[in-house]
Amino acid sequence: MPLIVTLDGPAGAGKSSAARALAARLNVHYMDTGAMYRALAWAAMQRGYALENSALIAELAREVQIVFDTGRVLVDGTDVSAEIRSEKVTAATRYVADAPAVREVMKIIQRKIGSECDIVTEGRDQGTVVFPTATVKVFLTASAVHRAKRRHQEEVVRGSGLTFQEVLESQSVRDAADIARPVGALVAAVDAVVIETDSLTLEEVVECLVSLVEETRQARGKHDD
Ligand code: DC
Repeated sequence: MPLIVTLDGPAGAGKSSAARALAARLNVHYMDTGAMYRALAWAAMQRGYALENSALIAELAREVQIVFDTGRVLVDGTDVSAEIRSEKVTAATRYVADAPAVREVMKIIQRKIGSECDIVTEGRDQGTVVFPTATVKVFLTASAVHRAKRRHQEEVVRGSGLTFQEVLESQSVRDAADIARPVGALVAAVDAVVIETDSLTLEEVVECLVSLVEETRQARGKHDD
């Protein structure tokens, strides 16, 4: 059975850095499901599709090839890694991610990837909906101010010019959307380990995750003996 580690949680809790580092430490694939929803929104915008037309977007999700290639995200061969992080795509992604029909297609694609290789997967619904029997489930969270500070720092690096207050406000809009989503809402799986990252460095979070995976593997090994 493939190893599946799910990392869910709100925006800005440090999931991406932690998931990427954990996957590298375990030498397994990293699946960024947020990037998949973003890439799909980008593809829909490129085609001029109405984002509210969920049947059309679900059809598009079946057609487009979203590929992760050494840290880059490709949509039908086009590198969209930078563009999918823009404010415009971030805002559009919400509509795409809210549609149950789209999520159903994404679930099938994500499960297929998870059935083929060992993965660390990051998102909102990975431990609850997509991989309910994952090897290890983690819910990474942090206070709203801490998360906004982290995201603002990223915006400064990107030179977007957004203020801390603007980042905080758009974060609360996204939090509300993530929590209220009719399917795939942001919630910790009942069997997830919840880690609050406010007072932890990235290295400490990763060490904690590596230990969790090792402990689970050992316990499973004993169980299988
Ligand atoms: O993690 P992120 O900020 O890149 O996610 C982008 C958007 O996609 C955000 O609106 C939440 C949504 N999302 C989702 O609904 N389910 C996932 N598994 C991952 C992301």
